[in-house]
Amino acid sequence: MTDLFAGLADIRPSREVMADGAVLLRGIFAATEADLIADLRAIVKQAPFRHMVTPSGHTMSVAMTNCGSKGWVTDIGGYRYDAIDPVSGQPWPAMPPSFGDLAQRAAEQGGFKGFAPQACLINRYVPGAKMSLHQDKDELDLGAPIVSVSLGLPATFLFGRLSRSDKPQKFRLEHGDIAVWGGPARLAFHGVAPLAEGEHPIMGRQRINLTFRKVM
Ligand code: SIN
Ligand code: FE2
Repeated sequence: MTDLFAGLADIRPSREVMADGAVLLRGIFAATEADLIADLRAIVKQAPFRHMVTPSGHTMSVAMTNCGSKGWVTDIGGYRYDAIDPVSGQPWPAMPPSFGDLAQRAAEQGGFKGFAPQACLINRYVPGAKMSLHQDKDELDLGAPIVSVSLGLPATFLFGRLSRSDKPQKFRLEHGDIAVWGGPARLAFHGVAPLAEGEHPIMGRQRINLTFRKVM
């Protein structure tokens, strides 16, 4: 374990532009990795992953949970943010500093200062799970960016434009990579191709994605 963390610290930070207002950051995660993963495990114990149902009645292949003062939920009644976990009837676990600080740091490097998300949606992909092209548009404050942190198995991220019919570009997201999109890219269509089979040395046979949103 220790050797793996030391190895990651050697990755030099890099910044790739995906679109106007959208960047992919690599190598800014290593210093906080151990804390973040320990905090993630505690959150998932308190609010376990579950497969939510879309308003059209489709059960999502990605399992989800949340932390923060608001959580994103979907059921037959629609998509919304809710302070209460519908499974436990309790508030979602608080957003730990290891999560919030990383999100703020990443947003700043993406050109968005003072990012203060209330919500962190936690997505779990096992091999075969995918997320169809969609826009993140359930937030009232579209002035704030989306910050998306990838952990575990690599994935193919599809990043498009403001229209669903524009062909998305493909980007490989690996453990520790962070995508930030806002401003002119805030409502860009995006999704994740079906996850390939694999075993990650730290996270095992899965990919976890943390998506930070300023809701209000
Ligand atoms: C999302 O759009 O909510 C998830 C994106 C990802 O898993 O990288
Ligand atoms: Fe999204």
